Amino acid sequence: MALVNQQSEPNPAIERRRLCALNDLSADMPKRIIIDDLKLSVSSINGAVYAVNDMCTHANYSLSEGPVNPEELTIECWKHGAEFCLVSGKALTLPATRPLNTFATEIESGEVFVYLPKKGQQ
Ligand code: FES
Repeated sequence: MALVNQQSEPNPAIERRRLCALNDLSADMPKRIIIDDLKLSVSSINGAVYAVNDMCTHANYSLSEGPVNPEELTIECWKHGAEFCLVSGKALTLPATRPLNTFATEIESGEVFVYLPKKGQQ
């Protein structure tokens, strides 16, 4: 079982949701996955899965259409080139200045799960 950005204590305000099969994710391009009304950009890199908000914080373009850098663990917005850290969500380059939300993920028996705030807890 692989954990990314996993909190150490159980949080009753967080729920685990299935994202997809691990085989549905490619190593070089993120995948856009929508759960309820939340749009996520999901990247599989070296056995770990990273889930961040899909919308660039600069101008609301989908990050899932841009490349990831597996060595730096970053994602680049295709529109104006801002880079974000997939681990922390931090905006690393202009023109974006605000961070992305990141979400803990878990891989279990070939399935990918994400931990999201329960409805009404966001
Ligand atoms: S919309 Fe992403 S950098 Fe401008």
